[in-house]
Amino acid sequence: MRRRPTFKSIETRHYEERDELFRHLRGLDRRSFMKLSLAAAAAVAAKGLAHPHSFMPIDVAYAATGEGQGFRIAYISDSHLYDKQINDRFVRQLLRAVDDVNGLDPQPDFVLYGGDLAQLGASSELDLGAQILKNLKAPVRMMVGEHDWYLDMGEKWRDLFGEPTYSFDHKGVHVVVLNSVIEKDFWTARGMTPEQRMNTVAGLDNGIQSRFEVGEEQRAWLKKDLAKVPKSTPLIVFSHSPLYKYYRNWNFWTDDAEQVQALLKPFKTVTVVHGHTHQMLTNRIGNIHFHGMLSTAWPWPYAPEGLPALTVQMNRPDPFDPNDGLGDGEVLVQSSGMVDKVYNLWNRNPIQVSAAYLSSGGKKDQPAKPNLVSF
Ligand SMILES: [Fe+2]
Ligand SMILES: [Fe+2]
Repeated sequence: MRRRPTFKSIETRHYEERDELFRHLRGLDRRSFMKLSLAAAAAVAAKGLAHPHSFMPIDVAYAATGEGQGFRIAYISDSHLYDKQINDRFVRQLLRAVDDVNGLDPQPDFVLYGGDLAQLGASSELDLGAQILKNLKAPVRMMVGEHDWYLDMGEKWRDLFGEPTYSFDHKGVHVVVLNSVIEKDFWTARGMTPEQRMNTVAGLDNGIQSRFEVGEEQRAWLKKDLAKVPKSTPLIVFSHSPLYKYYRNWNFWTDDAEQVQALLKPFKTVTVVHGHTHQMLTNRIGNIHFHGMLSTAWPWPYAPEGLPALTVQMNRPDPFDPNDGLGDGEVLVQSSGMVDKVYNLWNRNPIQVSAAYLSSGGKKDQPAKPNLVSF
């Protein structure tokens, strides 16, 4: 008797592969896997939000604007994966973000990963992250963070993902991705090992490492790249650190920010979206709009020296809820190339910070204030 061939849909294969990956990661049997996988949805439902998938209200709001010409980018950032034997919570949190983005309908044109995929730059951490991100249905564009870089100076990251500095055109918008975490050599003179160098950079608030910068070489590349772009073409720039000076002690800072801003200034519409700060953060300098991305690993507190005036602060997270203050989100690009930024805070209502809010200096279209308690 001939056996009938079995055909599997892309969807079925996707979930089978994901299932296999997760069981492999945790060494779990199928029952425990299903239990874990459903826990995220149950946690959201228990908070009493309107819909178990928190992207839904934003999808409706976007469709209602009648723009319809633009496109959407989803983002996931700052997952800080350790080896799974040391910490599997961050692994589960990244999987949750992958599920969020895969649940978007319509799917984003691409997903931007915002850097700090690994915690200490280890090959095993980066491999694990790459394996998980393969489960995204939409194409993924990668950006590098300092935690990915300073063990082997980007060798493994480049093997996996290619060069960290690049640009492309998408539906009338010029998109640039930078490596903004370049540091001056503080390690050679001190005779540091690669591990000591990585640990120092990962420490953030020590006085040994240098400040982040885009650096002369990349600024020259950017100048050349932008020379062929008409000034009326909207720009979206992704950088790991904010391309302005927010808080020096934690490297929430790019040392040559002014020089990079000067290259962007001649363009009519410019948005910079950054990782690294692990918090809701909004700024505007001249015509340049800046937005921070949420982390999937932990939320940083706000800097003690004050915030950019347009920032809508997120709630202080519940210390007993390991997913609070975390999330992922979307960059909604309007037909004009202006950007509305969506913060999909896990277990809380999503918050949209619109281009109109930034353009009007905070007068128009004020975002809904966080409406759940702070801790
Ligand atoms: Fe980070
Ligand atoms: Fe970072």
